[in-house]
Amino acid sequence: MLDIHNFERFAEVETPFYFYDVDLFRRTADVLSALSETYGIEVHYAIKTNSEERLLRMLSAGGFGADCVSANEVVHAAKCGFDPSRIMFAGVGKTDKEIRTSLEVGIGCFNVESIPEMEVIDAIAGGMGVKAPVALRINPNIDPHTHKYITTGLEENKFGISRFEFEAALDKLKACSNLEMKGLLFHIGSQITDVSNVFGLEGKCARELVTWFEEKGLKVENVDFGGGLGVDYEDPDGQPVADFETWMKALREYFPIGGPYKLHIEPGRAIVAQCGSLIARVVYVKKGRTKNFVIVDAGMNDLIRPALYGAYHKVENLTAAYCRGDNTKDCVYDVVGPICESSDVWGEGRILRQTRRGDLLAIRTAGAYGRTMSSQYNMRDLPKAVYSDEL
Ligand code: LLP
Repeated sequence: MLDIHNFERFAEVETPFYFYDVDLFRRTADVLSALSETYGIEVHYAIKTNSEERLLRMLSAGGFGADCVSANEVVHAAKCGFDPSRIMFAGVGKTDKEIRTSLEVGIGCFNVESIPEMEVIDAIAGGMGVKAPVALRINPNIDPHTHKYITTGLEENKFGISRFEFEAALDKLKACSNLEMKGLLFHIGSQITDVSNVFGLEGKCARELVTWFEEKGLKVENVDFGGGLGVDYEDPDGQPVADFETWMKALREYFPIGGPYKLHIEPGRAIVAQCGSLIARVVYVKKGRTKNFVIVDAGMNDLIRPALYGAYHKVENLTAAYCRGDNTKDCVYDVVGPICESSDVWGEGRILRQTRRGDLLAIRTAGAYGRTMSSQYNMRDLPKAVYSDEL
């Protein structure tokens, strides 16, 4: 049974808050670390997923690198102990200031997303008298079969350099004397559940493009496949540690162990999603004409995924299940938050144990893209983090 079910310890904590199961997080990191060794694939954790200092320090101490998307993330990662040479910086809109800061930190690689960006990094590095390590982020035009808002590797998306510009990108690289070419990055999307097929396609495409670039005289030392491994939102307890091995096997199919390339991945969600839950208290149980509402004190400002993507998060009534016992009957509710938006809904027609004012609910699989995407809309406080070993 996961630590979250030890709900009695939550009684004194002000809700809503993010609860992190430290044991599960450690277990997940250990599994990934061992597989990284076995398959020879270097892991860079995507900081945007969850940037809690305590979690980052555990990952940096475990030898993971970091994937960042702003200079603030770069500086935060370095502060949390990540080796600068293992920090990558992707993103289509890196500003001059962010490029300068990242060069000062001494990051391992800029994942460049356009030809104009190459020119700017080259000029800034030249002005600082340093060489900038860069990899080309490739837009491979692969459909990851996930939500449209988290698909990144299609030509209609703003990310990466597309095929029609490869020749021009090569010419530009040759002309930029302050850039040091490190390799290629692919990232096709997030919450990918068809793991073998989609990542197999990514591996195959990467293999072809690496060969293409090499034939054009470019030395490709590093191949980074980005992140994207999905997790089970419907059944968080079924497989709490994500299936990293199937992912690595799919990538290794086209880049066998012992080959000349250094491989990298940038998982975020799969490392931290299942370790986190948003804990909320029931403020009211309200009868509607056709349905009953459970109104909780956590809202879309605390976790925006359901409102933004229509994402499913399992909701559990901890108090009813673990305090009142098994004889409570099941009821159907719309579980909603307090925000003045109709999309502030945790779930419609959810079956929960009969729920009362004051009950604690867990909104599960909230460790990824939860707190980092939260806001103070309606002038609400930001939710705090609580760790299982601190209660
Ligand atoms: N690398 C790059 C270049 C990325 O853009 C991302 C995520 C990752 C790695 C990590 O992907 P992951 O392993 O977590 O799938 N807010 C959305 C997800 C946005 C993902 C953005 N990029 C959500 O809540 O579903």
